Amino acid sequence: VELIKQGYEPIVVDNLSNSKIEMLEQIFKITGKRVKFYQIDLLEKNELEKVFLENENIEDVIHFAGSKAVGESCVKPLMYYENNIMSTINLLNIMIKHKVKNIIFSSSATVYGTPKRVPIFEEDPIGGTTNPYGTTKLIIEGILQDVYKVHPEMNIAILRYFNPIGANETGLIGEAPNGIPNNLMPYITQVAVGQRECLSVFGNDYDTPDGTGVRDYIHVVDLALGHIASIKKLHENSGLVVYNLGTGKGTSVLDLVFAFEKANNVKVNYKIVDRRQGDIATCYADCSKAKKELSWTAKRDIVDACRDSWKWQQYYTKNNTK
Ligand code: WQD
Repeated sequence: VELIKQGYEPIVVDNLSNSKIEMLEQIFKITGKRVKFYQIDLLEKNELEKVFLENENIEDVIHFAGSKAVGESCVKPLMYYENNIMSTINLLNIMIKHKVKNIIFSSSATVYGTPKRVPIFEEDPIGGTTNPYGTTKLIIEGILQDVYKVHPEMNIAILRYFNPIGANETGLIGEAPNGIPNNLMPYITQVAVGQRECLSVFGNDYDTPDGTGVRDYIHVVDLALGHIASIKKLHENSGLVVYNLGTGKGTSVLDLVFAFEKANNVKVNYKIVDRRQGDIATCYADCSKAKKELSWTAKRDIVDACRDSWKWQQYYTKNNTK
C-alpha cells in the first residue's frame, strides 16, 4: 500500500503459507490499484525465475518471504533452515542472473542474540542467537555479506526489524496468521474479540520493570515507510548497508496489554505462565543510524498500533466467514 501511494508498481510474490489472497482485493479497496501477483514458493527456482522473465523492468527486490515465529522455529528447525535460507539463495541466484542489483532483506533484532546492551546499535555484535528463526536471519545476513564481496555492483539493505505490530489505518488490511498466533499482538486482538479465552503471558520473572518481556514494538506502517526510505538509499548506490528499524522505546507485555485495553476500551483476559523457550528479557533499538542516513524515524506509537490492530481484528472477524 505504501509503495503504491508513492508511485511504485509492486509485484507481489507469495506462497500464501501464512497470508491470504483476499488481501489483494483489500489493497485495491485502499489504493484503487490492482497489483500483479504470483502465487509462487521461492523454493521453486524455475517458478520464481518466471517473475523475472515476465517483468524485465524490475529494479528492486524486497525480500520478506520466510517463516518468522521464535517458538515455532524451536520445534521445526529443519523447516526454518530450508525455507528461509534456500529461498534466499534461489532469489539471489536469479537476481544476479537477471542483473537485478538492489535488494532489501527483512532481517530481525533476533540476530543480536541476547543483547550485550540496550538500546542495541547496528555495530553491536551479532550471533549467539537463541532460536533457529534468529539463526536463519544471521546466516542470511552472512550470505548477503559474502555475495556482496563478489558482486560489489549490488546494493543491499539489511533491515533489522524489531517487533512489528499494528495494521493499515483503514483497518482493511493487517496480519491474519493461520492457526494459533505465535506473536503477542495478534493473540491480544483475538482474545479481545472473543476468539480466544485468555492470553498466556510467558513469564513475569524476567529482570524487567514488571517482570514481563520488553520489546521494541514498531507500527507496521512505519516499518513499510522504512523500506521505501531504504529503496531511495539503494538508488544512491549505497553498497551494503544495515539499519535497525524500531522506535527506540521498550514496552513490556503487560504495558502492551494495558495500553490495548485503554486505547480500545476492551478487556483482555490474561494469566501468567512459564517462560517460552528461546525468549530473551529485553530488546529495543537505537535508531539514530536510520534517522541520520535514511531520514527515517517511526512516527506512530503503541497506542496508534493498538487502535489500528483492533480496527483490523474487528473488520476481519466480521468478514471472515471461515
Ligand atoms: C513478544 C513478547 C513473549 C506471545 C518477534 C517475531 C520475530 C521477529 C522479532 C521480526 C515476548 C511475549 C508472546 C504470547 C507472550 N520479528 N508473548 N504471550 O518473540 O519478540 O519475536 O519479533 O523479524 O519474527 O516472532 O515476538 O510477539 O512472539 O513475543 O507473553 O502469546 O510477548 O514472551 O516477551 P518476539 P512475540
